[in-house]
Amino acid sequence: MSTPDGAIVMDHPLLKVLMSTLRDVNSSTGVFRQTLNKIAGLLATEATRHFEITAVPVTTPLTVTQGARLTRPVIIVPILRAGLGLVDGMLPLLSDATIAHVGIARNEETALPEPYYAKLPSTLPEAEVLLVDPMLATGGSACEALNQLKAAGASRLTLVTVVSCPEGITAVRTAHPDVRLVTAVIDECLNERCYIVPGLGDAGDRYFGT
Ligand code: PRP
Ligand code: URA
Repeated sequence: MSTPDGAIVMDHPLLKVLMSTLRDVNSSTGVFRQTLNKIAGLLATEATRHFEITAVPVTTPLTVTQGARLTRPVIIVPILRAGLGLVDGMLPLLSDATIAHVGIARNEETALPEPYYAKLPSTLPEAEVLLVDPMLATGGSACEALNQLKAAGASRLTLVTVVSCPEGITAVRTAHPDVRLVTAVIDECLNERCYIVPGLGDAGDRYFGT
C-alpha cells in the first residue's frame, strides 16, 4: 500500500500481530529481538519487490527450464546500533548480501544526527542498497546515512524502517525523493523529546537490553 507522501506501508495481518508484541512495554529483550527478526523477514519481501531478475537455465530432475537470479548484488546497510536488529531477519532471504555499516547517534538534547563510523564497500554503485533502521523519527539519521551512501556512489536505494512518523517521512521524501521508503507502520507524531508516539520507545535500548 502506498501513501500520498510516497511511503510504502506493508499491509499484512501477521505484521500487525507482530507489531503489537514489539510495541508492548512488557515484551522482554528476548521477545523483542525475536519479533524484530520476524518483522525484518516480512519487510524484506516488500523491500525487494522491485529488484530485477535475470533469466538463467535450471536443470530439474526431469528437464531444463527457466530459472532466475538477482541481476544486481545486494548490500544491506544497518544504521548502528538499532539497525543491526533488522539484519538477521533479512539474511535468510538475502544470504549472499554484503553487510555495510553506518554509525550515527542521535544527540539526546538536540535530536541531531552525529555520524561516528562508516564502512562502505566499493560495489555500492552497481548494487541494490537496503538502508535499514527500525525507527524513522525526525529523519535526521536516515538523511545523513543516505547522504553518505550517495556520496559513495549508491543510486538504487531503499530505506526500510519499522515505525515511521509523518515528520520523518516528509524529511526523507523532501531531501531524497528518489529513495524508496518501505515501512511497517506510520505512527501519529513526535513528542517534545522527538520520540515517536505511540511508538515502541528506544529501539536500540530495547534490542540490546541496555
Ligand atoms: C535511533 C534510531 C534511529 C534514530 C531515529 O537511534 O535507531 O537511528 O534514533 O531518529 P531520527 O529519525 O530522529 O534521526 P539512536 O541515535 O538513538 O542510536 P542507537 O541506535 O544507538 O540506539
Ligand atoms: N529513536 C528511537 O529509538 N525511538 C524513537 O521513538 C525515536 C528515535
